[in-house]
Amino acid sequence: MRRSAITLESEISDIERKALFKVLNELSLKGTHLEIGTAAGGTLCEIYNIYKSAGREIPNFWVVDPMKYFPNQLDIVKKNLISKGVDLTKIRFLQNISSVALKKAFSESPEFDFILIDGSHKRKYVTQDLIWTRFLKEGGILCAHDYSMQFPGVTKSIDLFLKKYENYKQILITESLVIIKKEKTSENYEITNMMVLRAAMHGFFHQIFKSIKKRVSTKHSLT
Ligand SMILES: C[S@@+](CC[C@H](N)C(=O)[O-])C[C@H]1O[C@@H](n2cnc3c(N)ncnc32)[C@H](O)[C@@H]1O
Repeated sequence: MRRSAITLESEISDIERKALFKVLNELSLKGTHLEIGTAAGGTLCEIYNIYKSAGREIPNFWVVDPMKYFPNQLDIVKKNLISKGVDLTKIRFLQNISSVALKKAFSESPEFDFILIDGSHKRKYVTQDLIWTRFLKEGGILCAHDYSMQFPGVTKSIDLFLKKYENYKQILITESLVIIKKEKTSENYEITNMMVLRAAMHGFFHQIFKSIKKRVSTKHSLT
């Protein structure tokens, strides 16, 4: 069982959340917020309550998650949100992996003020999550969690993205949370099919390399 299924807390550290809340408090984001990967909804509750406790207009939220992280995840998330004073009519759940949930976005063309990427940390999936940035408004905030050496799929995808798109500026890194601002609308859609394919291939070869390395080191330790 995942720890967050029991504690119902955010999987983002206190220090990271403080940094995120500082940024959210300084900006006046009113448009829809998107969280990709919610676990027990701990971070979602806290973001919602930042707006509520400041008496600010509460934005709508989209939550994308296949809800298979732990048993009865969706029910647990909803109960958690209700117990923390969240109005569920403000939350739209897309119960699917991000690449499938994207179809809703393609048909509805939403506009987000805020996107938090915290789903699968594999390179292919993070790259697919970045497709959602085409729906991020100019001046909007993109965050990615687990941007650390432990998750090369996250760091590599984000670093390549930042290198390619100069209209996105990293404004803060705190522990493993990176906060990025979309300063200008992009001239083209950010992520192409070719970029996703390349990311998938890279992830595949990285996995093979890792397992060969592991086998070699086990063999050496036995001899
Ligand atoms: C690290 S947890 C999220 C933590 C949460 N953001 C928080 O701050 O408490 C990862 C979540 O991503 C979801 N997930 C895994 N793969 C996904 C995918 N491809 N698309 C969307 N969500 C995914 C899992 O079901 C899980 O709920």
